[in-house]
Amino acid sequence: MNADSPIVTQPDQSPLRRLFHPIREECPAQAAPLLRRLANWDVTSARHSQRVGAACRSFGMFLSLSEDDLERLTLAGFLHDIGKLSTPRAILTKDGRLTDDEYQEIKNHSNAGADLLMEEGFSQDIVSITRYHHEWWNGRGYPEGLSGMEIPFESRVIGIVDAWDAISARRAYHRQRTDFLALSEIRSHAGTQFDPDLAPAFIDYSVQRLAEQRRVA
Ligand SMILES: [Fe+2]
Repeated sequence: MNADSPIVTQPDQSPLRRLFHPIREECPAQAAPLLRRLANWDVTSARHSQRVGAACRSFGMFLSLSEDDLERLTLAGFLHDIGKLSTPRAILTKDGRLTDDEYQEIKNHSNAGADLLMEEGFSQDIVSITRYHHEWWNGRGYPEGLSGMEIPFESRVIGIVDAWDAISARRAYHRQRTDFLALSEIRSHAGTQFDPDLAPAFIDYSVQRLAEQRRVA
């Protein structure tokens, strides 16, 4: 197979099929082997990674990024949580509140992912974006407490898309949560957790997408 060709899968046909063939068509070829490993370790993390990767590409197009920038953002979006391969499965799948030690284990995934991607020969850009995707605009994130523009642009984008996906996923269990409520959480953390320019841009993008969906429905 050509290294540049996308992974092509049949459309999902059943929950069982999705479980065993979870790699999305938009997944860059370089990311697919690692995402397959992640799917075998924790399918929920792999699906989240793929949704974030696809949404990063779509939001990046809305931002009119160049093709190179879009490729880098998309690849990093698909791989941002690959360090969860190092997180014990019992913690990833635990129901209920995590202990402080368990939360610390989870937090190790950004450095673990960056180190793994370095070993696997990914570019320094992709390694850094992964390492810093949990940094906060106000410096209160991890692993290094970078702030503002010290945080790579793509990490700041992934931070927003990652949070939006986590809120949307929770919504499945709390049906009263609306897409608009998820977006209001993003807005309320603009300038603290999220880049104060990118957060409203993401809201504009999402509202546009919601309006398009309603027109089609
Ligand atoms: Fe993460």
